[in-house]
Amino acid sequence: MFYSDELIEEVRSRNDIVDVIGSYVNLKHKGNSYTACCPFHHEKTPSFHVSRERQMYHCFGCGVGGNVFTFLMEHENYSFPEAVEALAERAGVSLPERTMSKEERKKADERSRIKDMNKVTAGYFHYLLKTEHGSAALSYIKDRGIDDETITKFGLGYSDKYSDDLYKYLRSKGFSDEEMLKAGLIKIDEKYGPSDRFWNRVMYPIIDPNNRVIGFGGRVLGDGLPKYINSQDTPVFDKSRNLYGLNLAKKSKRRGIIFCEGYMDVISMHQAGFDNAVASLGTALTVGQVNLIKRYTDSVYLAYDSDEAGTKAALRALQIMREFEMPARVISLKPYKDPDELIQKEGSEAFERRIDEAVSGIMFEIEILEHNYNQNDPQEKTEFQKEAAKCLSRIIEPLERDNYINSVSEKYNIDSKALKEAVTVYGTNRSDNIDTAVFRQQERRGSPDEEKEKQQLKTERVLITWLINDNELIPLIREKLTPDDFADPVYRSVVQMVYDQYAANSVVQPAVIMNHFQSKEEHEKVSSIIQQDFGVEISASEKSGAITDLVKKIKRKSIQKKIDNAGADLSRLKQLMDEKKAIEKISLLLR
Ligand code: GTP
Ligand code: MN
Repeated sequence: MFYSDELIEEVRSRNDIVDVIGSYVNLKHKGNSYTACCPFHHEKTPSFHVSRERQMYHCFGCGVGGNVFTFLMEHENYSFPEAVEALAERAGVSLPERTMSKEERKKADERSRIKDMNKVTAGYFHYLLKTEHGSAALSYIKDRGIDDETITKFGLGYSDKYSDDLYKYLRSKGFSDEEMLKAGLIKIDEKYGPSDRFWNRVMYPIIDPNNRVIGFGGRVLGDGLPKYINSQDTPVFDKSRNLYGLNLAKKSKRRGIIFCEGYMDVISMHQAGFDNAVASLGTALTVGQVNLIKRYTDSVYLAYDSDEAGTKAALRALQIMREFEMPARVISLKPYKDPDELIQKEGSEAFERRIDEAVSGIMFEIEILEHNYNQNDPQEKTEFQKEAAKCLSRIIEPLERDNYINSVSEKYNIDSKALKEAVTVYGTNRSDNIDTAVFRQQERRGSPDEEKEKQQLKTERVLITWLINDNELIPLIREKLTPDDFADPVYRSVVQMVYDQYAANSVVQPAVIMNHFQSKEEHEKVSSIIQQDFGVEISASEKSGAITDLVKKIKRKSIQKKIDNAGADLSRLKQLMDEKKAIEKISLLLR
C-alpha cells in the first residue's frame, strides 16, 4: 500500500462522512441517520442512508455502500489512493510522497494525462466548429436539425481537414507523440510519421458518468466511407463498459432508459425531450453496459433500427436484459429507419406515443416468430404456436405468465387452454426444450458445485453481518470459529479484523475495516456485509437457532475441507472426524 494504516485511518477519522457526502448530495437528518435520494441510481423516494455513528453509507435501493473513501471512489471514479489524497487535502493532513512502484506511477500518470488530453482535444474540436474552418461541419449539423443548445450540451465539434492539425495543437500543449498514440488520437506511420486519427469529421466526444471525456466518435460530412471512426479502447476507454449519453441520461427524470444504436439518435432524442436515451459505442450491447445502467434505472426501452440488423440486435439485447432480470420494452419505429428519422419526420409527440405503445420483450419476440411461419399452413402454424409456448414458458412469475398467455391467445387466435397446457409442458421440460426458434436460451444457473459455493458464501456473509451488527456475539462465536474456518479470503480477513478490534476496544468500527481494502470490488463486497441490517426483531430463541445453524454450516465445511486435504495421515483423520462429530453438539444460547 502507498500509505500506512495509521495515516489512512487518520485521514478517514478527520473527514466526517456526513460532511463529505453532504457536500455532494442534499442530506436530511432523520432519526440516527441522514437520508437522500441516491446519487448512484435514479429514484424519487430517498433510500440512501448515511450514518454518522458508523461513518458508513448505504443505499437500500441499489445496494451501494461503504465508508468515506468508497464514496469518493464511486462518485469521482477515484482509485483508493486518489480518494485518500483528496480527503487528506480536505482535512489538511499532509501525506508523504506516494511510494508507488515505477510501474504504478507510470500507469496512474498515463491515465490522467490521457484524460487531460481528451479534454483539451474536445475543447479544441468544439472551438473549431465555431470558426471559419468548421463552417461546413456546422451547416451539416444544423441541416440535420440540431440546434445550438444541443451542440453545446453534447460538446459537438469538428476535426480540421489538415491531417496533422490536432497533432500540432497537442504538441503545442506539451503532449508527447507516445501519449497521443496511447490516447488513440494519432497514428504513426513508419515512413510518413504521425497523423491525426480524426480529420474533417463532425466530432462527438464520449463522456462518462463522471463527466470525463474518455473517447471520440467522428462522422464524415455527408456520404463518404467509413461513415464513422471511433476511438479504439485505451487505458481510459472501454467500449464495453460505457454508453454514449449516459452522463446526461443519468440525470433524467423520465422513466427508464432508452437504448438506441446511433450517436445521432441519442442527440435527436435528447433535443426532443427524451433525455433518457443512450447508445452503445458502435458495438452490440454488452453485459458490462447492462450492469452499468442497473445503477441508474430499473427498466429499459429498446429503440433499435427497424431493419433486419436492428431487429437481430434487439433480440440479442433482450436476451441479455432477461439474464439480468431487467424489464425491457421495444419501441417500434416503422416505417422509419431509426429514432432520429422518426423525430425529424413526425416530431416528439409521435415519439412519445411510440413509447406508450412499446411492447414487452416477450411480445416482440413472438411477433418476430410469427413472420417466420406461414400462418396459412396448418403445420407451420402449429410450429409457430409451439415456439410461442416455449417463449412464454420462460416467464417465471405465474401471474405474469398467465397474463401473457391470455394476450397471446387473443392476439394470435390460439385456444387459451391449449396454449396454457403447452406452456406448462415446455416449462416442466425446461432443460431439453429450452431451445426456441429465435435463439438458444442459455441456462443461467451455475453447476451444482457453483450453487453450493454461493450458498456457503452467503452463510459466511450472514454470520459476519450478525457479528458486526451485534458485537456481543463476538466472544461466543470466537470460541467456535477461527478466521481460518471461513472459506472466502476477503471474509477471512474481515473476521480477523472484527476479532482484533473487539479484543482491543470491545467494539467494532466498520469504517476502519473498510480502510483495509483497496479495490472497488473489495469495497463493494465488504460494504455489503457491513451494511445489511436485518431490520427485524426476532426472539432470543429464534436468534440462537439461526446463529447456531450458521456456525455449524461454516464449521462443517471447514472441517470437511481439512479432511479432504488430510491424505493418509490416519491420526489426523481420526482427530478431524472427532471434531466433525462435535459440531453437531454445538448449541449457542443467546440473549
Ligand atoms: P447517421 O447516419 O448520422 O444518422 O448516424 P447514426 O448514428 O444513425 O448511425 P447508424 O445507425 O448508421 O449506426 C449506428 C452506430 O454504429 C453509429 O452511431 C456508430 O457508433 C456505429 N457505426 C456506424 N457506421 C460505422 C462505421 O462505419 N464504422 C464504425 N466503427 N462504426 C460505425
Ligand atoms: Mn441515423
